[in-house]
Amino acid sequence: MDPRTNPYAPGAGTPPPELAGRDDIMQRAAIALDRIRHGRPARSLLLMGLRGAGKTVLLNRIALDAEDAGIEACLIEAPEGRSLPSILAPALRVPLLRLDRRKAAGASTGRALRVLGSFVRGMRVRYGDLEFGVDLGSENGVADTGDLEVDLTALLVTIGESARERSTALVLLIDELQYVKEIELAALIAALHRCAQLQLPITLMGAGLPQLAGQLGEAKSYAERMFEFAEIGALDEAAARLALQAPAAALGVSFEAAALDDIYRHTQGYPYFLQTWGKYAWDVADFSPIDQKDVYEATTLVLAELDASFFRVRLDRLTPAEKAYLRAMAELGPGPHRSGDIAAELGKSVRTVAPTRAKLIAKGMVYSPAHGDTSFTVPLFDAFMRRVMPAGADDAEPG
Ligand SMILES: Nc1ncnc2c1ncn2[C@@H]1O[C@H](COP(=O)(O)OP(=O)(O)OP(=O)(O)O)[C@@H](O)[C@H]1O
Ligand SMILES: [Mg+2]
Repeated sequence: MDPRTNPYAPGAGTPPPELAGRDDIMQRAAIALDRIRHGRPARSLLLMGLRGAGKTVLLNRIALDAEDAGIEACLIEAPEGRSLPSILAPALRVPLLRLDRRKAAGASTGRALRVLGSFVRGMRVRYGDLEFGVDLGSENGVADTGDLEVDLTALLVTIGESARERSTALVLLIDELQYVKEIELAALIAALHRCAQLQLPITLMGAGLPQLAGQLGEAKSYAERMFEFAEIGALDEAAARLALQAPAAALGVSFEAAALDDIYRHTQGYPYFLQTWGKYAWDVADFSPIDQKDVYEATTLVLAELDASFFRVRLDRLTPAEKAYLRAMAELGPGPHRSGDIAAELGKSVRTVAPTRAKLIAKGMVYSPAHGDTSFTVPLFDAFMRRVMPAGADDAEPG
């Protein structure tokens, strides 16, 4: 088929041609935002799932839908190693300007922006990475103590009041929320908690790796009552078929049922893999319908590409001991695995390998779905590890 019209979109945060299987979650997000806008209680939604499961595209879609509904959206990605104030403050400027421009009788003008200015001034001493220097004015004595929890609460309360005066709401959408440090997460939760008590129309929707639920609970014990955790996982078979078929059908192309079965088996319904298989199957097929032979041919190419990119970049950040740990996990299958079983596979004690496991968790490679269990954060990673580190060559560095 013509690669120029190939509809599939493997990538990070790249909108898929068909956002399959997520209607229910989009609906839940829309309802929660509408309730919050009207001062009614609703739990914020946190999307949790493995790498490539489709969290970012879903969060982006929720942001677009919110804006369509007249709600201000502030979309942020938390990069590893940056402070929350340094990513939050610059991102708030434009939504606050937009909010401010909405005229409403009796609404204060410019106040939320001035309080943002105070917040930046107060935070700058402690957070060296806060380089945001635009002159927003300031509001003396509000949000400028230098204490994150106090100032963030004052800032979000002010924004919430400003949104309420204008009969709208503001939603913060933070992607990769697991990278926000515990103490900063605690401040954010406390600030949002205060806003919820005041029934202010401001909330958070977030996305992150599965360890996020535990991190929030550690940060503030009441967090689990404030948030609804939505698991963003593999698509079921019907949704996976739709993700592949709908974009092709729009271009007059179809798949043989057996070809779809094969792709589902290889991808296990994980969105990133569906896009990748779809893309290659389209390119190798000479004509419609795309059949099993096309999928078979595509699979060789897909695995070569995934091994060289998607999986590879993750492996390249690891030490030999960390790789050996993952290889031992892979030997046991997709997981989750008991820490004791992994240590036994390595021929070591649980205590000896605990630091390695902790580093792998910090690097986002594995997480603990339940106490004493360890799981990969990347789907199909076990098969990849077995491919790049074949059995009997455990000590060899994967080339
Ligand atoms: N519901 C869906 N239907 C079809 N394709 C999807 C769906 N969700 C995501 N995709 C595709 O899957 C890929 C990964 O999506 P996305 O970047 O949102 O994942 P992610 O969970 O944010 O991954 P990461 O944890 O690595 O950031 C993209 O190519 C996207 O187009
Ligand atoms: Mg993402």
